[in-house]
Amino acid sequence: MNILIIGNGGREHAIAEALSKNKETKRVYISTHNGGANNKILNAGLPNHNIESIDNFLKNTQIDLVVVGPEQYLSEGIIDHLESKGIKAFGPRKSAARLESSKAFAKEFMEKYQIPTAKYFQYDNYDAALAGLHEFGYPVVIKADGLCGGKGVSICQNKKEAVQALTDIFHNRIFGDQGAEIVMEQFLSGFEASLLCFVSGNKIYPFDTAMDYKKIYDNDLGPNTGGVGCISPNPYWTADLDQQSNEIIRKIERGLAAEKLEFTGILFIGYLVENGKLYVLEFNTRFGDPETEVLLPRLQSDLLTNMMQAIEGKPVELDFAENVAMTTILVSQGYPGKYETGYEITGLDLVDPGILVYHNGTKQIIDPISDQKVKIVTNGGRVLSIVAVKDNLEAARQAVYNNIDRIHFDNMSYRTDIGKIMANYKS
Ligand code: GLY
Repeated sequence: MNILIIGNGGREHAIAEALSKNKETKRVYISTHNGGANNKILNAGLPNHNIESIDNFLKNTQIDLVVVGPEQYLSEGIIDHLESKGIKAFGPRKSAARLESSKAFAKEFMEKYQIPTAKYFQYDNYDAALAGLHEFGYPVVIKADGLCGGKGVSICQNKKEAVQALTDIFHNRIFGDQGAEIVMEQFLSGFEASLLCFVSGNKIYPFDTAMDYKKIYDNDLGPNTGGVGCISPNPYWTADLDQQSNEIIRKIERGLAAEKLEFTGILFIGYLVENGKLYVLEFNTRFGDPETEVLLPRLQSDLLTNMMQAIEGKPVELDFAENVAMTTILVSQGYPGKYETGYEITGLDLVDPGILVYHNGTKQIIDPISDQKVKIVTNGGRVLSIVAVKDNLEAARQAVYNNIDRIHFDNMSYRTDIGKIMANYKS
């Protein structure tokens, strides 16, 4: 079986590694370029976000399954497009992907099916939104309705910041049409938990939990990122939260069926725990990054089998090991702002057996004469996910940081506190 994965980051590398474990898998192609490519995981080298080039690739290469990573493709209906051509594809159709691509649609869904979430209102113009600020205290959360690459959410500490956020969205149109509507919602304080789930025939099969570290600096300081560390299971998750989550899942299943969303793929429930109560912050309709890098190494069942079960509308038989996985992401200094790339990465050959290295933003430099790999260089803000899977969190933490000490590239930066118990995260 040959598989094409659309996307090119650490998430796609982890999916490729997991899919390549199945003995039926002959080749896994990553649609653009991932520096972790080897003799089974190959780079298709297609331009990013170009459906025409994907179509051409599919015409010229025997592909039996397409797996879609990033949300932009799903929101534009790539699954509908591939299915219309008779190509087997894993992911939700455009109608179901709206649970991620429209914040307003997701909130309406939550309200309609009594899924606990923060109080909210939606607005499509500046004046109404400005008046709506009176409904909330501060901080208040302002979210552009559409996909904004993780930049569409502002937590405004006072009226000045809120007015600026509304001006940027409605007058300066910094998100273009993705900001044509907004959701304004009550700020909830607590800690976040990520729950990825397979969805098959509108039935939900949850993975084990994970905890993403979104802030760039230690102690959860600095700007938000795409995620610079992750652990699974989430150490603050309790049996009571599990019970609340199961009730929420049943409500989501009822909603998916009633709305005839025919969801197939991954539903990622972004939870927030405030004073022991679970709220849904957001839905994503794809694998999370870096959650995937810590969840898939703990998966005992076969990922390809699980994906096929979902595509065929069968029960998804998931199985997770009773261990702990942790990743710290090595980033280019300056990320999530401006950063430089092209620096050689050394020491990857020195990591201990069992330590996993997923490539987020790297590039292989190939000698044009010998066709051999000469070196690997940095090629993004998030560069490498260093993952350890151990019996407990402390052992995983030590293994990750011991191995990071052997890896080097100029301008390398990373958080040093991933996996440390946070005093402010209490269930
Ligand atoms: N880690 C959060 C996300 O994938 O959106």
